Order: sequence, then structure tokens, then C-alpha cells
Amino acid sequence: MIERLRDEGKALAAGATHYSSFSFLELRRVMESGRIAAIQIPYNVEQREVENNILPLAADLGLGVVIMRPFDGGGLLRRALSTEELRPLKPFGVNTWSQALLKWILSDRRCHVAIPATSSIKHMEENAAAGALPWFGDREREYVLQLAQKH
Ligand SMILES: NC(=O)c1ccc[n+]([C@@H]2O[C@H](COP(=O)([O-])OP(=O)(O)OC[C@H]3O[C@@H](n4cnc5c(N)ncnc54)[C@H](OP(=O)(O)O)[C@@H]3O)[C@@H](O)[C@H]2O)c1
Repeated sequence: MIERLRDEGKALAAGATHYSSFSFLELRRVMESGRIAAIQIPYNVEQREVENNILPLAADLGLGVVIMRPFDGGGLLRRALSTEELRPLKPFGVNTWSQALLKWILSDRRCHVAIPATSSIKHMEENAAAGALPWFGDREREYVLQLAQKH
């Protein structure tokens, strides 16, 4: 049905998504079928299963990648980090832990969009600011992982 809508010009592209790593084998098969242009997958500092084969395959196939659950449903934001801990990330435009978590995702250039959910305009503005250059390098991404493990 989606392919028909796409062919009629009513849908821009077809994509596939799954929230669970138990279904990633099936997702791989759909990706390899050549029938989709994008995927939506969970990825955050705690949930990194997609790094093993979904992200490399998406990059090889040139698929668009939308990242859902960037804060693990909000669980990663329960504890606030100190200004001191976030200081090394300030040159990257990061002032809050939510921005560090989003920039950590978007700095992996295989990930094209992150879609944090929020009911707050203030949070939306804070989150959107993490989509600006400069991106983290390997060192900053590793630092964010260390902060996440500490908390
Ligand atoms: N395709 C699928 O199978 C699938 C499955 C699950 C989710 N999704 C999609 O993925 C997206 C995100 O999923 P999600 O809602 O589960 O998880 P999430 O984006 O990881 O977390 C959302 C939570 O983070 C909080 N939050 C957002 N920005 C914040 C900030 N700057 N400071 C403090 N708290 C902040 C929100 O609370 P506030 O409202 O207070 O900001 C909310 O409780 C949604 O668009 C959803 O539709 C897709």
C-alpha cells in the first residue's frame, strides 16, 4: 500500500521501523530488499545494538536513518549533570545533558535525524539547538559515554 502511495506521488518515501533488537534480523531483510529508503531505530548511550550491523548496513545501502528514543524514553535524563562535568562540551554548543545526548547521536554521521519527544516548548528549543555544528569527534563521544556510565 505504501509503495502504491509512493508511486502515485502521495508519499515521498517508504521506510521501516522496529523498537526491539529482537526484530533487527527481520529489519535487515527489509533493508536488503531494496524496497525502502529509510529506517527508524532506537539508539542512545545505553541502547547501542544498532552499532553492530544495522547502522553499517544502512550506510552501505545509503538509507536515511531516523533515531527514536534518544533519551531512552526519558530515563537518561533523570539525573542532572554538573556544569563542571559538561564544561568540556561547551565549545560544541552543549550546555545541558539532553544536548550532549542528542549531539552524541548526531555526531555519528550514519544517523541523520533524532526525534526526541517532548511536551515542553522549552525542552524542544533546548533539544533543537543540539542539531547545530560543530559535531563531536571520537574523543567527545567517548567522554559522553563515560559521563553516562558514571550516572
Ligand atoms: N517506531 C517505533 O516503533 C517507535 C517506538 C517508540 C518511540 N518512537 C518515537 O520516538 C520518539 C521518542 O520516543 P520516546 O518518547 O519514547 O523517548 P525519548 O524521546 O527518548 O524521551 C522522551 C522523554 O524525554 C523528556 N525530555 C525531552 N526533552 C527533554 C529535555 N530537554 N529535558 C528534560 N527532559 C526532556 C520528555 O519529557 P518532557 O515532555 O517533560 O520534555 C519525555 O519524557 C517519539 O517521536 C516516538 O513516537 C517510535
